[in-house]
Amino acid sequence: MSAVTLETLRLFLHVLAATVWVGGQITLAALVPALRAAGTDVPKAAANAFNRIAWPAFGVLLLTGVWNVVAEGDKGPAYERTLMVKYTLVLASGVTAFLHARAASRRAMAVFGALTGLTALATLFVGIMLAQ
Ligand code: HEM
Repeated sequence: MSAVTLETLRLFLHVLAATVWVGGQITLAALVPALRAAGTDVPKAAANAFNRIAWPAFGVLLLTGVWNVVAEGDKGPAYERTLMVKYTLVLASGVTAFLHARAASRRAMAVFGALTGLTALATLFVGIMLAQ
């Protein structure tokens, strides 16, 4: 069997947090029609419950992300550019999720909801590019 190393732990925590942040958003979006049918306040209650694990997961992504950067070291200009794209997407993912949670109108809710979903997926994709 392969050895368990510090790298195993680092990537396990990073990917675990990514499953919560990205997978949780997709799952919550898929459940919204059923939650709406259960009551008008139910989607908001579910979103609040999700936020209690989503933001800690985002914090773990930031911490383990810095750990990844330090551990991987200098891998050349193409890798650095990919990292810059990833930093921008992480920022956009966090800011749009924050604005989505605080949106006052249905339109703002829909726009920031779509943006946070797209930027979370894009961050996941660029994360895989870095790990290749
Ligand atoms: C929404 C936030 C984030 C998501 C969804 C995400 C997702 C991922 C995923 C899925 C991987 C591939 C892991 C693997 O298969 O080995 C990855 C790798 C990586 N991520 Fe993230 N990440 C996020 C935030 C960050 C942040 C904030 C940083 C830097 C501060 C970062 C730096 C890295 C690096 C350097 C790798 C490559 C690790 C390696 O090759 O060992 N990530 N990320």
